Amino acid sequence: MRSTLLPYGRQSLDEADIAAVVDVLRSDWLTTGPKVGEFEEVFAERVGASHAVSFSSGTAALHAAAFTAGLQPGDEAITTPLTFAATANCVLYQGATPVFADIDPFTLNIDPEQIKSKLTSKTRALLPVDYAGHPADLAAILDLARKHGLIVIEDACHALGAEYAGKRVGSIADMTVFSFHPVKHITTGEGGMVTTNDAKFAETLHRFRNHGISSDARSRQTAGQWHYEMVLLGYNYRLPDFACALGIEQLKKLDANLARRREIAAEYTAAFRELPGVIAPNVRAEANPAWHLYPILVDLGKLTTDRAQFFRALRAENIGVNVHYIPVHLHPYYRDRFGFRGGEFPKAEDAYNRLISLPMFHSMTSGDVKDVIAAVTKVVSSYAR
Ligand SMILES: Cc1ncc(COP(=O)(O)O)c(C=O)c1O
Repeated sequence: MRSTLLPYGRQSLDEADIAAVVDVLRSDWLTTGPKVGEFEEVFAERVGASHAVSFSSGTAALHAAAFTAGLQPGDEAITTPLTFAATANCVLYQGATPVFADIDPFTLNIDPEQIKSKLTSKTRALLPVDYAGHPADLAAILDLARKHGLIVIEDACHALGAEYAGKRVGSIADMTVFSFHPVKHITTGEGGMVTTNDAKFAETLHRFRNHGISSDARSRQTAGQWHYEMVLLGYNYRLPDFACALGIEQLKKLDANLARRREIAAEYTAAFRELPGVIAPNVRAEANPAWHLYPILVDLGKLTTDRAQFFRALRAENIGVNVHYIPVHLHPYYRDRFGFRGGEFPKAEDAYNRLISLPMFHSMTSGDVKDVIAAVTKVVSSYAR
């Protein structure tokens, strides 16, 4: 057994990251300075989008995308129940209604057939999530959106660096949302980004993150002007310059981080494909996942235990497992507000009852990976039927 707890995710920072932040701390611009535009430019380039607009968190970025899509009271947006609550909450922030559609058990992503059954005259947007870093079924989802005049906001908070049918995530949907929380592929502490190929959307996103004002303080100072106009009801969702400086440095390491995560996933999958009692995640032929998470499903029919006990047994081995996610509709807020009782989305609920996220982060050593495989193998053998 390991002597120390291996977390399920963590950041890695090097001296170049620290130096970049310190440089900004010594400069004139702590926020909305030159690093913001620079980060947005390199990020847009990396994901192959025309525009990238930074935000103070992935949640703020989702809110901005929901606003920019024009969501308002009376509208509906269809999303998956198997996600972090922020995906659905951003619809509520706009006074619109999140409508859930069940998942495809193969990828655990939203099932386009289920989306079809939830479309109404009020549907305005589709909000697929690239669960664990595996892109959603974007071709089918975009096809539905085009047929019905809907906007697609892809929640790619797990999927920076993923590819779908040879295209980079961030360049495919109408708007794509990323998060830079420390467990993600790159971090700015807190932070988020929306990418889009639509110049009008980009302009609205910029305004929304800065109180709805049509210019920023630095451009006014440079132009020697005091006049500005607030043209829509926005927020202060700005990402500071020192965070953007960190983002620029972190982005340089994205390819290496992705390569390591793919290596770890391949090693896990090779081990777990051979191990009755757990089911490794599936990958569709057109997807190249980014592996934010590595979620296994406990195969309850082959074991004498349940997920909770399996989870505790792995924790007892000092393997820092987690569960992603409690389906959104089962949270008390959603139950109370919308009357969900459980049973509405059987596939998402069944997955939730069997899911365990194993440690997955790019600085894991090969010893860490072996420890995880050994611990899972040990727990499976002690509960084998
Ligand atoms: C799928 C998903 N959407 C949205 C978010 C929100 O991002 P943030 O924590 O940066 O606000 C997260 C964060 O973990 C997430 O996993």
